[in-house]
Amino acid sequence: MTLPAASTYRTLADSDDLWWRSAVIYQVYVRSFSDDNGDGTGDLAGVRSRLGYLKQLGVDALWFNPWYPSPLADGGYDVSDYRSIHPSFGTLGEAEALIQDALALGIRTIIDVVPNHVSDQHPWFQAALAAGPGSPERERFWFRPGRGPDGDEPPTRWPSNFAGDTWTRTVNPDGSPGEWYLHLFTPEQPDLNWTHPDVHREHEDILKFWFDRGVAGVRIDSAALLVKDANLPEVPLTPAPGEHPNTDRDELHDIYRSWRAIADSYEGTRVLVGEIWLPDVERFARYLRPDELHTAFNFDFLARPWNAAELHESIETTLSAHAPVGAPSTWVLSNHDVTRPVTRYGREDTTFAFASKRAGTPTDLALGLRRSRAAALITAALPGSLYIYQGDELGLPEVEDIPAELLQDPMHFRSLGIDPGRDGCRVPLPWSGTAPPFGFSPANASTSPWLPQPIGWRELTAEAQQSDPTSMLRLYQSALRIRAEEPDLGDGRFAWLSGAPDVLTFTRGDTFLLVANLSAHPVDLPDHQRVLLTSETLVNGMLPSDSTAWLEVLPSATENSDRPHHSA
Ligand code: GLC
Repeated sequence: MTLPAASTYRTLADSDDLWWRSAVIYQVYVRSFSDDNGDGTGDLAGVRSRLGYLKQLGVDALWFNPWYPSPLADGGYDVSDYRSIHPSFGTLGEAEALIQDALALGIRTIIDVVPNHVSDQHPWFQAALAAGPGSPERERFWFRPGRGPDGDEPPTRWPSNFAGDTWTRTVNPDGSPGEWYLHLFTPEQPDLNWTHPDVHREHEDILKFWFDRGVAGVRIDSAALLVKDANLPEVPLTPAPGEHPNTDRDELHDIYRSWRAIADSYEGTRVLVGEIWLPDVERFARYLRPDELHTAFNFDFLARPWNAAELHESIETTLSAHAPVGAPSTWVLSNHDVTRPVTRYGREDTTFAFASKRAGTPTDLALGLRRSRAAALITAALPGSLYIYQGDELGLPEVEDIPAELLQDPMHFRSLGIDPGRDGCRVPLPWSGTAPPFGFSPANASTSPWLPQPIGWRELTAEAQQSDPTSMLRLYQSALRIRAEEPDLGDGRFAWLSGAPDVLTFTRGDTFLLVANLSAHPVDLPDHQRVLLTSETLVNGMLPSDSTAWLEVLPSATENSDRPHHSA
């Protein structure tokens, strides 16, 4: 296929510079989205063939998890070549064509960059191993001699983001034990040394490579971890802000300022989205200053329990943290790392924490689905951009009975099996039909999907849900259509109204009002002109427990707000 020169790639940016402040962004985990060639693994041709579905859903942009060549030791977050496409997914030409096809439908593309670490198969790391101690090749990573008389103790005892060690010892060419190297994740993901100029140059060049191909933004993996204290101290029990040896170090901000300058040098708005897990909201907001990242994932909301006071506090804290830096918030119910909401909200403990993930927890999936529907309407009505992880629009539950021999996630193995891992939210999507592979792979496919789909998913296929007006898919389609048409949704004014106990009530602009009933009883709706959408059928005009309503009201109804207005 002949492709146009990079400079002729279209972008949509000219028409809407602020698209990112209110965009609905759909997360595509390519491996599990749609398999066009029948090898059991999703691919770019599969995504291209489903663009009509995404258009009908009503999304503004796609975020692709890493699509690069990778040994897949961590689902593709171990990248061996940042300028190419994993051969199971397709070719660079297909990626370029996909970006253009999506743009033709008005859908932008955001890609994932992984700057904290590379694959151990990346040419830089292979060169570093071969070149040996003291070589310039090793300076791009964190190689250090071990501690103790024989050097057999790791240089630090830093905990890993995935249980287990953060240092692995190398073997010298003569077979003797060698230096250690740092990896905050698996040993197959050696950390880069961000004090090295090559590392800066390389990543700036990678950004340009993809911006030249028309991508509208990058999601920055593990964005708060890149910089390390070169003295390698141990992690203090309660580190002062900026004093953690490998997280949220002040030097990071200059890196993102230089990335922002690159993004801003392109026509239209190319956005930087940080994956930043930080409990300190003020430190979090620093990354969103006007010359740094555009947005960052707000994980607080997805970690909170299904409880009105908690969600109220999360929304309030999030909006207050963003307001001083003028950045819009993001709203995220799940992603490829966390338990699917239908499962999480169906449990007694509805919080999310990596540390407490366990298999075999009793779950009421009907309750979980009902709450997920209500939560979808809450997040879709909050100010800022909205992320939807593939399959959440189908209300898929976490798959908890994947046979042990098929599990792939290193989080599971490194926890010695205590953590069930993240495979359960990465099972290939059910599209159509009544038996696996449910249209994920073509009917004549030689290989089964890389993770098995539950037989019960025949009721959850996109096809089945499209013809059921009460389905989760139809709820999402309606919500996104209203959101796109309603000028007060997305970015803009927000205010709380006082309501009954365990009921969240807020307004957007002058005439939009949301009521979410998290109490155990039905509640009356406030005066309204029109019901725009509800997550459950109203019962005698009342909003049932665990459901949300979107209402159109007269401007006077939004005047008694009990909180200051936030303008994003
Ligand atoms: C991020 C990704 C996760 C990955 C980790 C290491 O948290 O979302 O999937 O395992 O970074 O790259």
